[in-house]
Amino acid sequence: MKARVFSGIQPTGSPHIGNYLGALKNWVKIQHDYECIWGIVDLHAITNYQKPEELRQQIVELAAVLIAIGLDPKHTSIVAQSMIPAHAELGWMLTCVTPLGWLERMTQYKSKAQAQEAVGSGILQYPVLMAADILLYQAAIVPVGDDQSQHLELARDIAQRFNSLYGETFTMPATKLPSVGARVMGLDEPDKKMSKSATGPNHAISLLDDPKVITRKIMRATTDSNPAVDFETMGAGVQNLLAIYQAFTECSDDEVRNQFIGLRYGDMKKKVAEAVVAALEPIQARYREITADPGYLDTVLRESAARVSVIADDTVRKTKKAMGLYTK
Ligand code: AMP
Ligand code: TRP
Repeated sequence: MKARVFSGIQPTGSPHIGNYLGALKNWVKIQHDYECIWGIVDLHAITNYQKPEELRQQIVELAAVLIAIGLDPKHTSIVAQSMIPAHAELGWMLTCVTPLGWLERMTQYKSKAQAQEAVGSGILQYPVLMAADILLYQAAIVPVGDDQSQHLELARDIAQRFNSLYGETFTMPATKLPSVGARVMGLDEPDKKMSKSATGPNHAISLLDDPKVITRKIMRATTDSNPAVDFETMGAGVQNLLAIYQAFTECSDDEVRNQFIGLRYGDMKKKVAEAVVAALEPIQARYREITADPGYLDTVLRESAARVSVIADDTVRKTKKAMGLYTK
């Protein structure tokens, strides 16, 4: 039997090359090696206010992107978290075994809470729901970008605590990080992770950006005061652009070194932009094809939900039984 994999992405804004290189590209690579379930985690998205009509649209668009990058819905399940009530149900049961201090220690919580005047309690609970997503399917492996490592550790702690309080119920999930692209930085602020919520016009490259826009954003990316690529002294901006190039082209370190050493920044950026455009053009073409038939996406989401609900319901039943709750 193949080991089970779960990972999730929020349907907030357009997915960017950080999501792609840190997570999604890897999802495509491993989809045939494991039994995979990919979550469009809309219940996580509502921890911040989302305009309802936009959220509904973005869920379907994200499903289209996931298929356009190469996930095959016949072999892997692409599920909208809100279609499967067991996520929220298990989330509550796990909340009750999670000490508050564990959640207050999460660095993402701390930075999100700092940035907001009124902190919604969903922001604090966020990693418990994430643990529920994973444990619900008894996933053995969770491929994520490096910003999610701490949440994964917490998911293991919650599983362990539950298992020791109520008896073996959950599989211990392992974190799987990509070897390159685990942390793509903002093009305008190379000291900050590329993020959907940043507002700078040249911060992130969306997977659906027009080739001209991609090129413009890369040409304007922040570099440093060197005139040309010097591997000994280059700053974070140049490092980030070369890491993006390497992750898209899958070149070795030596190949990157040979191709870029001494190249003036203008030429370096052109080369990086060409590689990004070449990688994204076929994805964009497939996206246009897929979105031409919205009925297809609805069918994919419904069929996936029906398939995985069997596993989810089984785990909820087991969990309730372990806790002494009423089961049907
Ligand atoms: P999110 O957009 O927060 O739902 O993230 C979806 C996936 O993309 C997660 O596995 C993240 O770890 C990954 N990810 C998000 N931003 C980046 C980034 N800048 N670099 C690498 N991976 C990222
Ligand atoms: N919190 C993750 C992120 O923002 C998304 C996510 C939700 C997730 N549930 C998950 C990732 C379960 C892996 C497994 O990137």
